[in-house]
Amino acid sequence: MPWLKVFHFAALIVWCGLLLYLPVLVRAAWAPQDADEDRLHARLARLLFIGISTPAALLAIASGTVLFVREDVVQLWLVAKLTAVAGMVCCHAGCGALILKVERAPPPPLGLRRRASACGLGAAVFIGLTLWLVLAKPFQ
Ligand code: HEM
Repeated sequence: MPWLKVFHFAALIVWCGLLLYLPVLVRAAWAPQDADEDRLHARLARLLFIGISTPAALLAIASGTVLFVREDVVQLWLVAKLTAVAGMVCCHAGCGALILKVERAPPPPLGLRRRASACGLGAAVFIGLTLWLVLAKPFQ
């Protein structure tokens, strides 16, 4: 069982890290630089999103689900935590949508950089909330 928790943490660290980094990368792809560098940022964002972030999210959720079934945890903090995780999933999907937009031909519409910032900020809030709920267990 400790190994399953370690696995849960490892997947979470990768997912949460990329959830904070990808919006920055997406913003960088819209910065006024030369076109080749923009393409590089967009390609790197897609590679990280599809190759690392999404698999890590799936593994974090799958290992969390196995922990929940095995340890038979049915408490209010877990329901609240899953709600906060749903917020993280929305930020993840938002990042994916922004990566698709940034890959399309320039010029990107104004406001998309702001949406990338909102995705990053939202992710930070939901990650903090999830960690607080699972570590402090304020509701039993
Ligand atoms: C569907 C997604 C998830 C499910 C079903 C899930 C479920 C669980 C369960 C059942 C435990 C064991 C709790 C205990 O033994 O007290 C746990 C531990 C933990 N989870 Fe998750 N989890 C999920 C996603 C996340 C996310 C996204 C984060 C952080 C951002 C997170 C952070 C943690 C932490 C820090 C622990 C260790 C708590 C402790 O040992 O006191 N989990 N998770």
